[in-house]
Amino acid sequence: MAKSFFNLVINGRQVKARPGDTLLDAALSARIVLPHDCCSGQCETCRVRLVSGAVDDQGTAERDTVLGCLATVEGDAEITFDPVPVVRNNQAVLEAIRQIGPDLLEMKVRPARTVTWLPGQYVRLTFKGYPPRDYSPTFPMDLKREEGVMTFHVRRYPGGAVSGALGSGIRPGHKVTIRGPFGNAFLRRQSERLVLVSTGTGFAPIWTMAVASVLGQPKRALSVIAGARDASQLYMKEAVDWLTARGVPVAMTASDGDGRIVRRERPSELLSFVSPQDVVYAAGAPSQVEVIRRLALSRGALFHADPFYAAEEKRSFAEMVMKPLRRIMPQSTEAGETRVS
Ligand code: FES
Repeated sequence: MAKSFFNLVINGRQVKARPGDTLLDAALSARIVLPHDCCSGQCETCRVRLVSGAVDDQGTAERDTVLGCLATVEGDAEITFDPVPVVRNNQAVLEAIRQIGPDLLEMKVRPARTVTWLPGQYVRLTFKGYPPRDYSPTFPMDLKREEGVMTFHVRRYPGGAVSGALGSGIRPGHKVTIRGPFGNAFLRRQSERLVLVSTGTGFAPIWTMAVASVLGQPKRALSVIAGARDASQLYMKEAVDWLTARGVPVAMTASDGDGRIVRRERPSELLSFVSPQDVVYAAGAPSQVEVIRRLALSRGALFHADPFYAAEEKRSFAEMVMKPLRRIMPQSTEAGETRVS
């Protein structure tokens, strides 16, 4: 007779799970808060390690990990996940906006209470009267400490419901709710060389991880690649100076690079050195993140992804076919379930 329940061990705690339950449903039914966000295979927040046993990974397996919101229980199994800060709602006020490049803005937001997040995670901002959008908290490029203020980098999309309103409908003093943090592509204290790759405002989470690594694990080998569509959008030169002054190799790339200070290759084309001794993080344009994911995994490296799905721009057909079939497209580009670069 088919078993009606299996034993699932989650971070050392045994729970009952029905065949076909997702790992996330099984965890939540047992009141274990397995980190999650989109529940549709996009955000990677729910990625867990399969220690042993049988699950149907639903096409989400990467090395020994699967996505908890899609993978289903097929037998007794054990999974683990890294502890992350608890997701909370926080009231806040937009404090400042300034242009840092063509169509690129820096936003300062002051929350009423401190928001705890790990370098590489993201939060959901809902400006009063506007749809929610996801952004990665980052550090100021000059690393000048601003007590109680969160910094974000935003790409402005023409006609964007939120990014297009920044500076007009949304001005300093505007009320905003911060929900989070989310995301699984956060810095772990490991010994492997760290390879951090960004495109566009994907540099926001990459910068926080680079700083945290340099200051927290100064002996850990680190390499950074920052790409942009064109050189005028490489807004991170001050950050690059800070990193290179500390011996970190940094490559900036853009399609119109001069070939010396700014290279012309795509970020993924600069990763021939990646080996099983590396852990690779990629943040930014989903098509590049996917290319880097495949490359890193084919070379046996650990990989963490933070793809920025643009809520305010229509996805190109090319981008849609690049997405693995396992991923479920969101019902609406305004649903706030996507990352905004
Ligand atoms: S919650 Fe599973 S990928 Fe987003």
